[in-house]
Amino acid sequence: MTDAAPQPVFLKDYTPFGFLVDQVELNVHLHPTATRVRAKIAFRPNPAARDRRFFLHGEDLTLISAAIDGTPVTPEITPEGLSCPVPEAPFTWEAEVEIAPAENTALEGLYMSNGMYCTQCEAEGFRKITFYPDRPDVMAPFRVRIDGDLPVLLSNGNPVAQGAGWAEWNDPWPKPSYLFALVAGELVATSDRFTTSEGREVALNVWVRPADQGKADYALDSLIRSMKWDEEVYGRAYDLDVFNIVAVDDFNMGAMENKGLNVFNSRYVLASPETATDRDYENIERIIAHEYFHNWTGDRITCRDWFQLSLKEGLTVFRDSQFSADMRSAAVKRIEDVMTLRARQFREDNGPLAHPVRPESYAEINNFYTATVYEKGAEVIGMVRRLVGPEGYAKALDLYFARHDGQACTIEDWLQVFEEATGRDLTRFKRWYSQAGTPRVKVTEDFKDGTYTLHLEQKTPPTPGQDEKLPQVIPLALGLLSPNGDEVLPTTVIELTEARQEAVFEGLAAKPVPSLLRGFSAPVILERDSTPEERAFLLAHDTDPFNKWEAGRSLAREVLIAMVTEDAAPAPAWLDALAAVVRDEALDPAFRALALRLPGEDELAEALADRGAVPDPLAIHAARERAKTAVARHLDPLWAGLYAQMACPGPYSPGAADAGRRALRLAALGYMARLDGGARAQAHFSAADNMTDEIGALSVLLETGGADEALDRFARRWGHDRLVMDKWFGLQATLAAPERAVAVTRALTEHADFTWKNPNRFRAVIGGFSANAAGFHDASGAGYDLVADWLIRLDAVNPQTAARMSTAFETWARYDEGRREKAQAALERIAAREGLSRDMGEMVGRLLAAGRIAA
Ligand code: BES
Ligand code: ZN
Repeated sequence: MTDAAPQPVFLKDYTPFGFLVDQVELNVHLHPTATRVRAKIAFRPNPAARDRRFFLHGEDLTLISAAIDGTPVTPEITPEGLSCPVPEAPFTWEAEVEIAPAENTALEGLYMSNGMYCTQCEAEGFRKITFYPDRPDVMAPFRVRIDGDLPVLLSNGNPVAQGAGWAEWNDPWPKPSYLFALVAGELVATSDRFTTSEGREVALNVWVRPADQGKADYALDSLIRSMKWDEEVYGRAYDLDVFNIVAVDDFNMGAMENKGLNVFNSRYVLASPETATDRDYENIERIIAHEYFHNWTGDRITCRDWFQLSLKEGLTVFRDSQFSADMRSAAVKRIEDVMTLRARQFREDNGPLAHPVRPESYAEINNFYTATVYEKGAEVIGMVRRLVGPEGYAKALDLYFARHDGQACTIEDWLQVFEEATGRDLTRFKRWYSQAGTPRVKVTEDFKDGTYTLHLEQKTPPTPGQDEKLPQVIPLALGLLSPNGDEVLPTTVIELTEARQEAVFEGLAAKPVPSLLRGFSAPVILERDSTPEERAFLLAHDTDPFNKWEAGRSLAREVLIAMVTEDAAPAPAWLDALAAVVRDEALDPAFRALALRLPGEDELAEALADRGAVPDPLAIHAARERAKTAVARHLDPLWAGLYAQMACPGPYSPGAADAGRRALRLAALGYMARLDGGARAQAHFSAADNMTDEIGALSVLLETGGADEALDRFARRWGHDRLVMDKWFGLQATLAAPERAVAVTRALTEHADFTWKNPNRFRAVIGGFSANAAGFHDASGAGYDLVADWLIRLDAVNPQTAARMSTAFETWARYDEGRREKAQAALERIAAREGLSRDMGEMVGRLLAAGRIAA
């Protein structure tokens, strides 16, 4: 932590490290407050480097001794690391340091969680374990010996030998320090074996605390399916004799891809039908796959520097989305991904935190694990694939793996393999990596003598530090429907490359209805005047499932906006169209459930701000409530039948089919509760035999009132289970009625079980409340103050998680003057704190700049 203004790091300043590392040997002697780490590192001059200054990163380390080629040395030490004169030939560096994992509340480096030791090194945590060139372009094989009085001692790679109180591990694959991991604890494994396509026998283990035994089966099953999928679809086989996964309760992120030893937030491992929801199962499957896929896209081929983060994260998100689409419904997965993209990435791109997929500078890299780097980065890969086709994509990936195995790469390396494998020039396409902001594509049309012309204009609005934008390469997938609903042009991709372009379609008998941006073929905002009738028509007839959903969604959005701004009644055309979808038994229940979900309050606020209005969070909330009640009434004849029909007979299965039925059934339950006062929901809650139904019914009760008794029963039943209680905390903060939200949340923070140093619990309450738009943006400013107080408090113990949660303030500048003043005051109060972390300092600085832009 530092009081000084953070020194930014620039992409353009990259230089290679002056030395190569041939081997790392670590000896870790565990102790809660006095762990000793001895490192023996073989360095040699890097012929590719000019700068030979020997600087090793190191933070919060007590140096016990240091030697070069066996001779003791006294390095010069600063808070960031050490420097020392070294020979101009290969040499061995040895150092011993002492660290205190039990005092590490930041959960970065080596720390303790519930009596177990674990590590988190990405991005820059290894420097809290020993002195090292802690940068991803320095790759080396690691050999690790752990001494500790615990039964299970794990590190990366293959086991070498072990005895009582010690174990030795060897990782033959050169890796950057951020992929180092160590775990020690009283753990039990759920195990299986996997034989790779190359004939390697791999032992698979998912390690959990004994109390959680029996909850790792789904994670293990997901791992096996991921391993198989990566062999079949990408030709990538696993490369060690063991693959270990460990669940830890205190974890800043979701999970981490350390080579051969993935460490997971326990919420993305542990599952049983009674404790985990369908969504939890889906997340576990996805995140297990994501971290496993990193073995090739991240570990074997890593990033040259942290500016290239999307090289591994964007690609791996794209891969895990493909996997989930294959395991479940591709259409539903796409719709869900786009909903998240819009809710998180479009919001980011449209506000003070906007930055390119490859940022040009940062003060704290932890602040750049963002929706833009991840989700927009994945969309950019989807666009490349659409442009070069699946075969071109496969060829380029084969070349990428063959050429760059064992290397630390850049976005340039990535694009180069596509250019070589497909012959396509990607110079202009590369702007997606350097230009922030969501492009707007404006569409107008005319029809004459059988010729239909689309006039397309693209424009990307200014973002912080980037005023002028160039046109992007946009693959626009589209189809045309005739007025009777037949498809007259099946999906075709046209490429936008210029600020203005036309697309001409000839020989049409009548003016068609266009279905544009099918499958959401590019991360852009489409601007086109459309009528409710046309949207209803596409909702009924579009053959593209994404656009079918999109038609309904945009229809709902328009209706809701009219309800907010004109106090209009919900349009009957919308209600009828919705009823038709819900009634259509040919449609996947999961799809119908999605269609019944109304655009969120934040999405509506964004849409209003986009039209130059100042959104009123309370008016939005009220309109959304009225719309829900109108849907409940209008579709009243359907609910009971749907509720009965969508029951899942037989034992609980987390698969997509049953999950879709449960989602539709719970949606029906939610609307029914607006008519029957929640009677059916109470019964559903009492009868639930799985967490999806239990928490689903509880949510309904919370939304419609009368949840007090159910909340108590739930707490009595699940008080012992941390992950389940996170849901209990989160739900109340998220769903509390606007006028009660601050008080409810404050009461939750005073609850004896509000263990706020646990990131999951903190996120549940403070993150949950921040997602309660009307509550957080309470006109009194009390919501802003509550969150600011807790961010300040958490920042002192865990800067990374605190800084990530400051994005609650991302949209503050779009509100009215009264709210803006209060939000700004809350942010300034954070900024003024003495001892504020670099993480939080950077975030509030950028957030505050929004007001200056808006003013
Ligand atoms: N490498 C990251 C984990 C990470 C992020 C470590 C930031 C340190 C700092 C991991 O692969 C990851 O991306 N995890 C995601 C989940 C994933 C499914 C997108 C996470 O933790 O949220
Ligand atoms: Zn990742």
